[in-house]
Amino acid sequence: MSSPQSFLALILLQQPDLRVPDNTQLILTSATCLAAAGVFFGLTVLNQRVAFLFHLPLPLGDFKGTPFLTIAGWINEYGPLITIRSNFERIVIIGRYKAAVEIMEGQGKFVADRPRMIVAGEIVSGGMSIALAPFGDRFRRMRSALHSHLQPKAAEAYQPLQMSHVKNIVLGVLDNPQNLQHHVITYAATTIMKAAYGKNTPTSATDPEMVAKMRPGAYLVDSIPWLRYLPWYGRELKLGFERRKILHTNHMEWVKEQMQSDQDIVPSFMKHMLENSQSYDLTEAEMAFLGGSFLGAGSISRRKTSVSICTVLMAAACFPDERAGVRAKLDAVIGRHRAPTFIDQGSLPRLQAFISEALRWRPVPSGGFPHRTTNRTYDDLSHQENYCIPAGTTVFGDHWSISRDSDVYPEPHASKPQRWIDEQGGLRDDLNFFVYGFGRRACPGQHVADRSVFIATLLVLWAYKLTLDPTQPWEVLPCTFEFKKRIPEMELRSMLQHYPKVV
Ligand code: HEM
Repeated sequence: MSSPQSFLALILLQQPDLRVPDNTQLILTSATCLAAAGVFFGLTVLNQRVAFLFHLPLPLGDFKGTPFLTIAGWINEYGPLITIRSNFERIVIIGRYKAAVEIMEGQGKFVADRPRMIVAGEIVSGGMSIALAPFGDRFRRMRSALHSHLQPKAAEAYQPLQMSHVKNIVLGVLDNPQNLQHHVITYAATTIMKAAYGKNTPTSATDPEMVAKMRPGAYLVDSIPWLRYLPWYGRELKLGFERRKILHTNHMEWVKEQMQSDQDIVPSFMKHMLENSQSYDLTEAEMAFLGGSFLGAGSISRRKTSVSICTVLMAAACFPDERAGVRAKLDAVIGRHRAPTFIDQGSLPRLQAFISEALRWRPVPSGGFPHRTTNRTYDDLSHQENYCIPAGTTVFGDHWSISRDSDVYPEPHASKPQRWIDEQGGLRDDLNFFVYGFGRRACPGQHVADRSVFIATLLVLWAYKLTLDPTQPWEVLPCTFEFKKRIPEMELRSMLQHYPKVV
C-alpha cells in the first residue's frame, strides 16, 4: 500500500523557523487547542479582536499571522519576560525555561488564577468549567476530584482501555488510508468517552456532542461585561449553557441508571464521582460539569491528544534518520510477529525520546494558556531577576519561545531526540518541557494523555513506514505523505484481532 495521506489540521508540520511569513495556519490550528487562549488573548490586548473575528487584515504588521513568532522575536530582543500593555490590561509573557520554572512553578500559588473570560467561563459554562475557573474553593474541590482519577496510578488503569481502541487507528489506515487524522481523533474521543462515563457510544471525529463551543476572548462581552445584562444579548450563548447542562446531566443520569440497574458496569470517572460524592463535596451540577470537563467539555482535551499524536507521527515522516533509529529499536525489542503493548514501554526509551522531542519541536499549545496573578500588594509578589509582577496580571508561559531556549535545548530549531537520552541510554530525568502547562494549573490529564500518545505512536510506527509524499513539496499545506505496511496485511489483522480488548 502506498497512499497519500493528507493532514489538513496538522499545520504543525509547517516550518515556522524556515518560512516565517507563511505560517498563518499554525495559529489557526493552535486556536483549536487551549493555546487558542494565548493567541486570541494576544490579539485581544492589541485591540485587534474585532478585526480577527471578521477576518479583516490585522493592522499591526508585526503580528500578522504569526503572533508566537513575533513574541519569540521580542523575547530574543528584550529578555525572558516581556510585558504587553493595552488599556487597563497588563500581560506578562514568559519566554525562557528558567523564568518559567521560577515563576510558574516556584511561585505557582500566586499564578494559579485564570483571567476572567465572561463568555467561555461564565455564560457558556455557568462558572463550572474547571479549566476556566478562578483559583478558589470550587476549583480546589473539582481539581482534587479529577486528580483522584487521573494521578499516575489511576492513569495506569486506563491502559487496557487505550489498547482496546488504539488498534482501530492501524486498522482504520488499512481500510481508509486517506483518513488517518479522523482515525486518530476517533480513537482519542472514544477512549475518553469510555473513561469518563463507561459509555461505548462510538464517538467519531464529527460527533456533534464533541464540537467545541469555547472560544476565549472571542466575544465583545469579554471586553464590555455589562453587555451580558442586556436581555437580548447573547441569547445563543445562554442557550448554549442550557444545552451543555442537559448534555452533561444526561450523561451523569445514564451512569446513575446503570448503577441502579444492578448491572456489573465498567469503572468510569462518573461512577467514581457518584460513589464518592460525599468526599469531594461537589453538587450534582458541579459533578455533571466536571464529567463534561473530563470528557473534554468542548473537545479540547480530545483535540490536544489527537493533535499531539499526529504531531509525533508527522515528525516521524519528516526525519528519516531518526525514524530509522526508532524502528530499529522496535524491531529489536518487539519484532514483527507480535503487536507491541505497554509492557514494551520500559524497553523503548528511544521512542519516548522521539515523542518528547517532537512535542518540544512543535509544541501543541504554542502560546500557552493564560494564568493570572492574585497577590494584592506589590511587595510580596514575584520578584524574579529584578522583575516584579503585580497582582491582577495575566501571565502566559509561552510554549513556543520556551521550546526555543538554547540554554536548555541547544540547537532548538532542530529535532534532536538524542537530547532526551542519558549516557547509559536511558531517559534523562533532568530535562523537561512544559507540554502540559504550568504549576497548579498544569494539565491533570497528563498521565492519561502521555500513555495515549505513547501507545498510538508505538503501534503506528510498528505497523507502518511513514514517509512524506516525495511528489509534494512538504512546506505547502496540506502536506501529504505515504504509509507503507511493514507487516503483511493478513498477519497484521490477525495480530490485532488478538490484541487486548475491553468490553
Ligand atoms: C496530549 C494531550 C494533552 C495536552 C497536550 C494537554 C495540555 C494541557 C495544557 C497545556 C493545559 C493548560 C495548563 C496551564 O494552564 O498551564 C491543560 C489543562 C487541562 N487539561 Fe490537558 N492536555 C492534554 C490532554 C488532556 C486530557 C486527556 C484530559 C482529561 C482527561 C485533560 C484535562 C485538562 C483539564 C481539566 C485542564 C484544566 C486544568 C486547570 O485549569 O486547572 N487534558 N492541558
